[in-house]
Amino acid sequence: MRQYIIAANWKMNKTLEEGQKLASEIINIVSDEVKSDAQVVICAPFIHLTAVKALIGSKKNIFLGAQNVSNKESGAYTGEVSAAQLKSVGVDFVIIGHSERREYFNESNEMLAEKVDLAIKHGIRPIFCCGESLAQREQGVHIDFIKSQLTESLFHLSEQDFLKTVIAYEPIWAIGTGVTATIEDIENVHNAIKERISKPLLYGGSVKVENVREICQIPNVDGALIGTASWKKEDFIKILENTKDL
Ligand code: PGA
Repeated sequence: MRQYIIAANWKMNKTLEEGQKLASEIINIVSDEVKSDAQVVICAPFIHLTAVKALIGSKKNIFLGAQNVSNKESGAYTGEVSAAQLKSVGVDFVIIGHSERREYFNESNEMLAEKVDLAIKHGIRPIFCCGESLAQREQGVHIDFIKSQLTESLFHLSEQDFLKTVIAYEPIWAIGTGVTATIEDIENVHNAIKERISKPLLYGGSVKVENVREICQIPNVDGALIGTASWKKEDFIKILENTKDL
């Protein structure tokens, strides 16, 4: 049986009360090994992290994730949250380089490399996102583009640190659009990435109840990073059930 990761990216959704409710429902399902055997990561907004950690306690197979981290160690950076601060509330994983942050907050490959370094330094595993735009795919430059994202943000790492990183391939045109990449699209990119890197490699972009099993069964896919379908209890629970015994 393969060990795979199902990561929920709540983005900027859920009040604290709603987040606690959803987290406890997910935790119950994950704790019931008959219903789920994935390693589940809940990537919650910063303000929920302490509360979600308290609900997780010492349960196995469920981990706490943040959605961002500062590229600075500490100091006068109003509004930022550091890797050391995330670690101090029990964060295990952090999403770095999500396309929404690259696009809306101008995060460069260089800045992302700094975030990766700080996360690893403080014992947090990066979930590093890469992926092309529709225009890049149409021009056929997507594989080179993804390789440059990985090279510029990750390839400076030592082999040991590299192993701590999870990579998520998320084509921008498939995120939040309902349009999922085809099995062939996913296979091609994942095979290209795995030529250079052997490690947990997730797919993200309109993963839903109906397609999650088929996607996770692709040989070079080790799980999924899920946005929209992780915000509704019923959907996310079905996703965990549908990925059982892969
Ligand atoms: P989506 O988002 O599942 O809503 O497409 C995925 C993501 O942004 O990580």
